[in-house]
Amino acid sequence: MAVRAFEGKEHAAAYLQYRVAPKELISRIVSYMKETTPNQFSLALDVGCGSGQGTIPLAPHFTKVVGTDVSPAQLEMALTNENPPNVSYRECPAEKLPFASGEVDLVAAMTAAHWFDREKFLLEADRVLRPGGCLALLSYTLDMELEYGDVSTTLNDICEELHAALHPFRNPYLETHSMKIYSNMFDSCSYPDKEWNECLRVKRVLPLSGYIGMVGTFATFQNLVQKDPEEAERLLNVARNKLMSAMKVSSLDAEVTVVVKYFYWLARKPL
Ligand SMILES: C[S@@+](CC[C@H](N)C(=O)[O-])C[C@H]1O[C@@H](n2cnc3c(N)ncnc32)[C@H](O)[C@@H]1O
Repeated sequence: MAVRAFEGKEHAAAYLQYRVAPKELISRIVSYMKETTPNQFSLALDVGCGSGQGTIPLAPHFTKVVGTDVSPAQLEMALTNENPPNVSYRECPAEKLPFASGEVDLVAAMTAAHWFDREKFLLEADRVLRPGGCLALLSYTLDMELEYGDVSTTLNDICEELHAALHPFRNPYLETHSMKIYSNMFDSCSYPDKEWNECLRVKRVLPLSGYIGMVGTFATFQNLVQKDPEEAERLLNVARNKLMSAMKVSSLDAEVTVVVKYFYWLARKPL
């Protein structure tokens, strides 16, 4: 069973505005592919591509990149990007990819595979990958850290409080920790050449509004919006005001360093 989420137009638009492209992770995927099977960079798929944040950074490395997603709203947003000519998008489920067996060099899923029917997706990825092709799954934990002068600890306490308030709205399909889902998928992958990394810290300097906007795209927050929009707005306002007060700033344009903790796994289909 897969779970449908992220499909509303407003959510898709916020996604495009606030989610950050994981360029460091894309570099690691490309270097892993160069180490294991050089010169095989014809076709990459970004499955569950959303509005294309991870799809476009793949473009310089492959002849052709296709972003796939079940959500027409997300794909509509993806098309508003300045997409390089070798990038295109297809509407399809992750569990049934419209590609021939052995046609694909890279199957990547960024912050998306936890929503899929994971067993079916892994079988489908194995089908479309060529021998020597690479599977790359990545995501991040929601407990992002903020760094700002000497008040980082205070900011992180505020963020933790916000996440604790949102946690009950986590979709049951995601169990308690996404990382466990990915490590179970990793364990179930029979490819002998594989790599697991539990924490790659990626830093971005963003306006405070960017961090708040990102929290607004989380599925937990969106679930709360569905159930109780006033409470969702109240929670975000409280966090926003506390953060601004701790930082002693009067504008959401004030910049803060956001530390995103990615986990990922890479695996090479045997030759
Ligand atoms: C959290 S978003 C991630 C988007 C993008 N990859 C990123 O890194 O920002 C998850 C995406 O997966 C898509 N999705 C969820 N289940 C899917 C499925 N079974 N097949 C294809 N796409 C799916 C959603 O529509 C959504 O766009």
